[in-house]
Amino acid sequence: MEINLPDISPEVQQAKMRFGIVGNAPALLAAVSRAIQVAPIDLSVLITGESGTGKEFFPKIIHNFSSRKHNRYIAVNCGAIPEGTIDSELFGHEKGAFTGAVSSRKGYFEEADGGTIFLDEVAELPLTTQARLLRVLETGEFIKVGSSTVQKTNIRIVAATNVDMLKAIEEGRFREDLFYRLSTVQISIPPLRERGNDILLLSRKFASDFAERYRMPPISFSDEARQALLHYRWPGNVRQLKNVIEQVALFDAGREVTSTDISRNMPNHPNVYTPTISTERNHDYSRERELLFNMMFRMQSEIDNLRATVERLSTAQPLMPPQPEMPQTLVKYTPLPKSPFTEATTIEPEQPQVRHGASSSAMTLEDTEKETIRRSLENNGGRRKATARELNISERTLYRKIKEYGLE
Ligand SMILES: Nc1ncnc2c1ncn2[C@@H]1O[C@H](COP(=O)(O)OP(=O)(O)O)[C@@H](O)[C@H]1O
Ligand SMILES: [Mg+2]
Repeated sequence: MEINLPDISPEVQQAKMRFGIVGNAPALLAAVSRAIQVAPIDLSVLITGESGTGKEFFPKIIHNFSSRKHNRYIAVNCGAIPEGTIDSELFGHEKGAFTGAVSSRKGYFEEADGGTIFLDEVAELPLTTQARLLRVLETGEFIKVGSSTVQKTNIRIVAATNVDMLKAIEEGRFREDLFYRLSTVQISIPPLRERGNDILLLSRKFASDFAERYRMPPISFSDEARQALLHYRWPGNVRQLKNVIEQVALFDAGREVTSTDISRNMPNHPNVYTPTISTERNHDYSRERELLFNMMFRMQSEIDNLRATVERLSTAQPLMPPQPEMPQTLVKYTPLPKSPFTEATTIEPEQPQVRHGASSSAMTLEDTEKETIRRSLENNGGRRKATARELNISERTLYRKIKEYGLE
């Protein structure tokens, strides 16, 4: 049960409920409160924080608590758009602007006029796009690719990053003037390891969500499991916690989960535990052994499952006849709502957020193979010999696959 602390303002409580944000850590509540305060003032906001801390809630809060809430909200993942197409995605292009520009196209800055654009992973923007962005922020003006007509737009920008922007500026990868323009207000999201008891609130929430989703009996946590959760460093923050809980909710359904069950799902970096735990655990070889055995069993069954899936997929009839390969241009310039790089949402009250993303599409055989190899490499600490042995393929094949899938 989450307890409503008396000092949480009604707006913060409302935002938490609305977007499903779990936690009462003062630094988290302060960040939510800051987003609500700045929402009605039309300033650019930069959200900073490690990967997986929940940065994506904040532009939505800002949009939703602003007078722009009835206009469009478009989220753009700057890191996912190829450099050659990003200007056209953001600012649109004229017919004939480049080979393959068969018709003119509106960019997000035109589509979202009057609304909010969330630029996620903003540090990944190419320098040329940074120049265009600076102009639109300073004057509200932009020019479509291949056009000479200046257009006006009224957009509020919220950007997010997990990189050290000052370092990016020093290294010449990010314009200093744009940085100051974007970061009029900064909101920093605390890492999970600094949120204390929130880790347990989140664990319980995810455990019950996954039990429901997979229709499995719920798990509970032993005391030592709770200690392990509390003392882990969580380099991948809430995203990683969610992932770990999903694994145990699936594989240990209906059980009281132990710390071994938890650690089984953590990458085995030597520095993952804070000192208190690691010194305690250092000399406990029996537990290490148990953990290793568990890991091996788990991996074996995962491999068996994947092998079965691969076999099933490779014998299954395709549902549709294979499509002829589409010309590049048609693939790249899909109409706005279908772009894999953005999410255009009109946030309506009481309406749960449905998130569409490239990741929601079904896995292909190649994805499955790549994922199997990636996980096996991870489980084997990157050691190729052990990975090849585990996957029952030659080291040479493994080298080739690693190269092919860019898993270096
Ligand atoms: N406080 C929180 N309460 C509930 N879920 C959270 C919280 N913070 C993050 N999450 C979940 O963790 C995952 C990662 O969050 P995301 O916003 O994508 O992280 P970031 O953009 O900072 O890398 C998402 O599934 C998100 O819903
Ligand atoms: Mg993100």
